[in-house]
Amino acid sequence: MSCHKSYITTPIYYVNDVAHIGHAYTTIIADTLARYARLINQDTFFLTGTDEHGQKIEEAAKNRGKATQEYADEISAKFKNLWDEFDISYDKFIRTTDKEHKIGVQKAFSVMYQNGDIYKDKYKGHYCISCEAFFPETQLVDGEFCPDCGKLTSIVEEESYFFRLSKYQDKLLEWYRDNPQCILPKSKRNEVIRFVEGGLNDLSITRTSFDWGVKLPKEFNDPKHVIYVWLDALMNYVTALGYGTDEANMEFWPARVHLIGKDILRFHAVYWPSFLMSLGLPLPKHIGAHGWWTRNGEKMSKSKGNVVNPKEVADAYGLENFRYFMLREVPFGGDGDFSQRALIDRINSDLGNDLGNLLNRLIGMSGKYFDGLVESNLVKEFYRKELDEVNSSISKLEPLLFELQLHKYLEELWRPLTIANRAIDKYQPWSMIKEGKRDETMALNGLIATILAKVSIMLHAVMPKSTNIIANALGFEINPKSFNHIIREDKILAPFKTKKREPLFPRIEKELLEEKKPQEEKKEIKKEPKTLTLIGIDKFFETSLKIGTVVEAKEVKKSKKLLLLQVDIGEDRPRQIVAGIKEWYSVDDILNKQVCVVANLKPAKLMGLKSEGMLLAAKDSSGLSLIIPEKPKVNGTPIS
Ligand code: MSP
Repeated sequence: MSCHKSYITTPIYYVNDVAHIGHAYTTIIADTLARYARLINQDTFFLTGTDEHGQKIEEAAKNRGKATQEYADEISAKFKNLWDEFDISYDKFIRTTDKEHKIGVQKAFSVMYQNGDIYKDKYKGHYCISCEAFFPETQLVDGEFCPDCGKLTSIVEEESYFFRLSKYQDKLLEWYRDNPQCILPKSKRNEVIRFVEGGLNDLSITRTSFDWGVKLPKEFNDPKHVIYVWLDALMNYVTALGYGTDEANMEFWPARVHLIGKDILRFHAVYWPSFLMSLGLPLPKHIGAHGWWTRNGEKMSKSKGNVVNPKEVADAYGLENFRYFMLREVPFGGDGDFSQRALIDRINSDLGNDLGNLLNRLIGMSGKYFDGLVESNLVKEFYRKELDEVNSSISKLEPLLFELQLHKYLEELWRPLTIANRAIDKYQPWSMIKEGKRDETMALNGLIATILAKVSIMLHAVMPKSTNIIANALGFEINPKSFNHIIREDKILAPFKTKKREPLFPRIEKELLEEKKPQEEKKEIKKEPKTLTLIGIDKFFETSLKIGTVVEAKEVKKSKKLLLLQVDIGEDRPRQIVAGIKEWYSVDDILNKQVCVVANLKPAKLMGLKSEGMLLAAKDSSGLSLIIPEKPKVNGTPIS
C-alpha cells in the first residue's frame, strides 16, 4: 500500500465529556501514523477535532446550566489543550460549529438532494439520545432500552428528510468485496458485510425536536429542521479540507485511513461511504476500527469512578512510555485492559532492559575500550549475519504499520534489540579485547550502534522525544534524510563519540497512581450535574411540583421496569405516568400512596404509552425510594 498523500483522521470527539483513555488511544495511533508518513516524506495531513451538535450536547450544557455554545467552547478547548500537551501533531483541529464546516454540510445536503438521494417523509421510531440513533423495535432490549448503550430510548415521531441509503446496498457490498483492506481488521469487515446484506433502510437525516445543529440550506425554506448529527459529523472529514468553501486541500482526499473505535464502525463503514457516493467523491482507502479499553478487567464508566484519565497516566509514567504501552499491549481491533502493573512491566522490561540498557552497554563498552569512539565501517565484515537478520526484520515493519498492526510492528521492531543483546553475550567483547581483537570489538560496538540507530528511527513515530535522545547519543538526527540513509540504503553510521548519561527509562518499582476502588455502578443517577450550578429561586419555580395520589396501577407488559400509573393531582382527570419503579414497588405497594409529581414535564412516550409527568424518587446502591409527603396532603398541593 503506497500513496504519496497521506490524510489521516481521528473521530471528532463529542463535547459532552472530557477525554479519557479511549480518546487518547485513537489519537495516539493516528499521531503515530502521521509522524511515520512525514518521516518517509509523504505529504501528510492529520485531522482531529470535536463534534459539537445534537441533542446530547444540548442536554449536557443544560444540565450544567450553561449556554450550549459556551459549553461546547469550553470542552472543545479542553480536548485541544490535552492534545497540545500530548504533542499530538495534528494539522487541523476542526469543530463542527466552525462556519466553514456548516457551509460544507449544507452544500452536501443540497448536492445529495439534487442527485435524487433525499426525500421528505414522516418518521416514527425509538430514538436513543446517547447514541443519537434510531433503532427498530426488534433490536431494543426489553422493548425499550438501546441495544448499543443500554440507556432508555424514547419514541420520536417527526417529519424528516430521508437519505436513500437502501439505494447504496449493492454498491457498498461491491466496495467491501473489491477492497479487502477497506475495513481493518478484516474480521470487522465481515461483520459490516453481514449487516449490509441484512438490508438497509433509508436514513432519517434531519430532526425537528431540537435546535442545536446545522440548519437546512436556505433554498429548502424549512427552518424547523436541523441536519442529523451523524451526517453533520461525518462530513467533517471533507469540510476540514475545504469542501464547500476553499477546496485547495481537497487534493488530500480520499483519506488514507479513518481511525475509529469499533462502536462507531457502522456509521463510518455504511453511512459515510454512501454519503460519499451520493456526493460523487472517492471512498476512503481504509477504515481502522480499534477495540475497547477496560480497567483492571472492568468496563470503564463515570458512575463506577474507574475511568482512566490519560493526563494522569502520562504525568505519572511519562507520555511516551504510555504511548508505547498502548500500542504494544493490545492487538489492533481487540479489546485491551489498562492496569498499572502491565504498564510498569512494559516500561521496565521492553523499554528499560531491552532498549535503554543496550544504549548504556554501548556507552560503557565504547568508553572503556575506545575512549568513547564508535566506528561502524567493519560491521559488515564481521557481523554480516546479524546485520542481515536485523535488516530482514526492519523491512517487514512498514506494511505492518499501515495495516494498523501496531503491536506486531513493535514486536518485530524488538527483534533487532534481542539480536544486539544476544550478540554481546555471544561474542563477549570483554574477552575479545583481552585477546587483542580490537577490530572485532569495535565492529561489535558498531553493530550495536547501527541496531540502535535503526530501531530509534523506526520507533520515532511512537516515541519522538526518547528516540531523538538516542539518536543524539549516536551522533545523528532523525529526519527523512537519515531515514533514507540508514533504513532504505543501509548506509553505515558516521563515527561518533559516546558520553556517559542517565538511564533513559529508569526502573519503576511500584504503582505511581493511587488505585481508585471501582464503586458500585450508580447507573441511573446520571442527571446529577458534575459541578453544582447555583440557580435563582425563579428557576426553581419553573418546575411545577405537586402532591398526588396513585389511584390506579398496572404492570406494563413485557417490561421489567415500568408500571403504568394514574395519579390524581387535583385536576379534572388523573395524569397517566409511566414510572420505572417496578423493581422496587409492586402494584399493591404503590396503589393509594401519595407521591410527589413533576407536573409540567413535556409528555413523553415510553413503550408506546404516553407519560404525563414524573415521580420524585431517590436511588442509591440499596435501591430506589419514592419521595412521599410526611403527612397526607390534598391532591394538587404545590411543593415548594
Ligand atoms: N462524535 C462521535 C464520532 C464522530 S466521527 C465523525 C463519537 N465521539 S465519542 O467522543 O463518543 O467517541 C470517540 C471515540 O472514542 C470513538 O472512536 C470510541 O470508540 C472511542 N472510545 C470511547 N470509549 C472507549 C473506550 N473505553 N476504549 C476505547 N475507545 C473508546 O463517537
